[in-house]
Amino acid sequence: MLRGKKILLGITGSIAAYKAILLVRLLVKAGAEVKVITTPAAKDFVPSLTLSTLSHHPVLSDLFDDQSWANHVMLGRWADVMLIAPLSCNTLAKMANGQCDNLLLAVWLSATCPVMVAPAMDEDMWHHPATKANLAKLESFGNKTIPVEHGELASGLTGEGRMAEPEQIIEYLERNFFLTRPLTGKKALVTAGPTYEPIDPVRFIGNHSSGKMGIAVAKELHSRGADVTLVLGPVPAPDQLNGITLKKVHTADEMYTAATSCFNDADITVMAAAVADYSPKQAAPEKIKKKEEGMSLELVKTKDILKELGGQKKKGQVLVGFALETTNEKQYALDKLAAKNADMIVLNSLNDKGAGFGYDTNKITIFDKSGQEINFETKSKEEVAKDIVETLIRLYYA
Ligand code: CTP
Repeated sequence: MLRGKKILLGITGSIAAYKAILLVRLLVKAGAEVKVITTPAAKDFVPSLTLSTLSHHPVLSDLFDDQSWANHVMLGRWADVMLIAPLSCNTLAKMANGQCDNLLLAVWLSATCPVMVAPAMDEDMWHHPATKANLAKLESFGNKTIPVEHGELASGLTGEGRMAEPEQIIEYLERNFFLTRPLTGKKALVTAGPTYEPIDPVRFIGNHSSGKMGIAVAKELHSRGADVTLVLGPVPAPDQLNGITLKKVHTADEMYTAATSCFNDADITVMAAAVADYSPKQAAPEKIKKKEEGMSLELVKTKDILKELGGQKKKGQVLVGFALETTNEKQYALDKLAAKNADMIVLNSLNDKGAGFGYDTNKITIFDKSGQEINFETKSKEEVAKDIVETLIRLYYA
């Protein structure tokens, strides 16, 4: 993704500047052309000789010397992206106020390309309201921020403020500016969240699904170019939908109606919802009063949406199901793949640490119709969504 891209890397005076050496190396290895600008303070942390050798360009630091003047305007126009990593508290404050006392600031002020910053500072500085206000100002200018990490800091303390690792910075860069969109022109349908089956006006049968996994899949499909409809059970919708069409539902029956009405047009359907398998035969019109010691509810099976869609599936449509299991995981997942005529099943086992409901992480295995089994590590649900969508692209749209 970075091949041939022009990256202008600004390095400021922070101990995290040592990571910029690896950053340059990785950017160049990925095929990017890199020019480095350092602030005067950065030179104390990282040698220009190392940076110029790795970037294959002289390191720029001064606005002018006895002989020449650095053309800061053209540098900002040359770049596809200007990345400032690490961004120190001092340079952040100067940027927020539009100061221009070194080359890096002059280039930033005249840059016409997008800008991304990776702050690095000690925890107390990071949490100071002045820092927060300065960063908010930068974001209001349209600059993107790579979140800091929690960990050991230069002070010896442990806390928030560490610069993101070079590999993560590169991933941010790719995802924000250079992502390919192979799903452009494709329509996608995603179901997510639980369903609530009413017992009476105040009670329901539900489950612990947060909807996070399906929402992350919907966002990932959208960021890869698809036109996405998200059918979401009764959990909060994401703040930023960025063009995803949202259909809110409560019950399995409503989810069935919403999903089947969109399915015909969908090239890709991902059923991540935890649909109730049974629903009360009849919801009581009034609140049920407590009377006997025991109470029975008559339940009826809900419609299996995935199975129904698997039956309707036409050539060229890709159907992905989920399987959440506690025992005999692989066999149950393969049974679901076949029984529901899906193309891929994403298995998560509640026996895996950090997987399933309520976690921000998940651990999945993907099975596809050709018999492939692909195992993944425990990752954030956003990264898992990326794995699912990338697998789907590789298998059906490469
Ligand atoms: N599913 C569905 N409609 C249902 C039940 C499940 O569309 N009424 C979908 C889920 O969204 C998921 C897949 O089917 O993609 C598997 O769901 P899961 O609850 O794991 O399996 P079930 O088919 O319900 O079988 P069981 O509960 O016996 O494991």
